[in-house]
Amino acid sequence: MRTIGIGVAGLGRAFSLMAPGFAADARVRLVAAADPRPEALQRFRSDFSGTTYPSVEQLCADPQVDVIYVSTPHQFHAEHVRLAARQGKHALVEKPMALSLDECRAMIRAAREANVRLIVGHSHSFDLPILATRKLVESGQFGRVRMITALNFTDYLYRPRRPEELDTPRGGGAVFNQAAHQVDVVRMLAGARATSVRASSGAWDASRPTEGAYSCLINFDDGSFSTLVYSGYAHFDSDEFMDWIGEMGRKKDPSAYGGARKALASSDEQLLKNARNYGGSEFAEPARAAFHQHFGPIIVSCERADLRPLPYRIEICDDAGRRSIALAPPGIPRVEVIDELYAAVVEGKPPLHDGEWAAATLEICLAILRSSRESKEIFIAR
Ligand SMILES: NC(=O)c1ccc[n+]([C@@H]2O[C@H](COP(=O)([O-])OP(=O)(O)OC[C@H]3O[C@@H](n4cnc5c(N)ncnc54)[C@H](O)[C@@H]3O)[C@@H](O)[C@H]2O)c1
Repeated sequence: MRTIGIGVAGLGRAFSLMAPGFAADARVRLVAAADPRPEALQRFRSDFSGTTYPSVEQLCADPQVDVIYVSTPHQFHAEHVRLAARQGKHALVEKPMALSLDECRAMIRAAREANVRLIVGHSHSFDLPILATRKLVESGQFGRVRMITALNFTDYLYRPRRPEELDTPRGGGAVFNQAAHQVDVVRMLAGARATSVRASSGAWDASRPTEGAYSCLINFDDGSFSTLVYSGYAHFDSDEFMDWIGEMGRKKDPSAYGGARKALASSDEQLLKNARNYGGSEFAEPARAAFHQHFGPIIVSCERADLRPLPYRIEICDDAGRRSIALAPPGIPRVEVIDELYAAVVEGKPPLHDGEWAAATLEICLAILRSSRESKEIFIAR
C-alpha cells in the first residue's frame, strides 16, 4: 500500500479537526507544514516529527509532500493551490473553495494544467450518514427526491474569530462559512442541478456585523426543491433534535447553555482565538467521537418516504411505518475525506468533491448573498 505524504498549509482550527484522522490512517502521513505562527510549527514538529517551513511556497517544494492540505484562511486558497500545482502537488482544499468564481476557475485550471487532483473538503457532505442516505436515494426504492429540509441553530457567530471572519466581503459570516456545508449536504442528497435561489439573510448583532442567519429556497432542474435555515446566534440549539449529539459527533450537555457567548464576553477575542488554536496554551486535542459528525437536522422527502440521516442511524418513515438502519460507529475521524483523497490520488478515481463540484456550491452561496441583498430570485446559469 502506498502512503501519501501530506503537507499542511495552515495549522489552525480546520487542521486540528482533520489531524486526528490523518494521524490514525496508515494511507497518509503528515510529513510537513507551513504557518506563520511559531508555536503551531513547534507543536507540529513535536506531534508528528514533521518538517516545518515559514512559507507555503517552501512547503510545496518539499519532495516528501504529495498533497498540500490547504487549510489557510479562504483568501489564500487560490494562491496556495496555484503554488501546489506549480510543484506538481495534489491539493485538498478546505471549504469554502475560494471567495469568488473567478478564483475557483483559476484553481481548476491550475490543477488541470499540472495534471494533479483537486478535492475540496472537509464539508459535512462527506459525513457517512449523508453518503449512506445518498445511496438509499440512488437505490430508487423510495422514488425520486421531491423536497429536502435542512436546518441548523448553533453558536457559530460567538466562537472566537479572526477579524475577516466577521466581514462578509472578506469571506466572513454564516453564508460563506456555514452555508458552504449546508448547501453541499443538500446538493449531495438532491443529486440534481440547482437552477435558482431565493434567500434572505440577517445580520442582527452590530458588534459582529456579518450574516449570522439565513433562510433559503433552492430549486433544482428535476423539479425538486430544498429549504435551508441557519442561525448562528447562540440561542436555540438544534442539536436538541439530534439526540443532543453535537456537530463533531460527541454528546453535548444541554445545561451548558450560552458557553460561547460567556467565554467571548470575558476575554480578548484574538488572545482567546490564539490560545485555543493549535499550538496555543489552551489548545485541547479533540476527544474521540462515539457518533458520526453532522450539520443539523435534515429530512429528505422522496415520493414514498421521508429519510432522516442521524449521527448513528438513518430513520425511514414510509407508508408501512417507521424504521431505522443502524450505522456502525465512526472509526477514524473524517475517514471519508481520506477515502476520497486516496482513491483520487492513488487509484485515479474521479472525486465526488472536485473543483467543479465545490465551485457550484460557492455559486449558490454567492447567490444566497445576492438574493438577500437584491430581494429577488437569482437564476443559476448552466
Ligand atoms: N471543514 C471544517 O470543519 C472547517 C472548520 C474550520 C475551518 N474550516 C476552513 O479552514 C480554513 C481555515 O480556517 P480556520 O478556522 O482553521 O482558521 P484559523 O485561523 O484557525 O487557522 C488558519 C491558520 O492558517 C495560518 N495562516 C494564515 N496565513 C497563512 C499563510 N499565508 N500561510 C500559511 N499559513 C497561514 C494561521 O496562522 C492559522 O494557523 C477556512 O477556509 C475555513 O473555512 C473548515
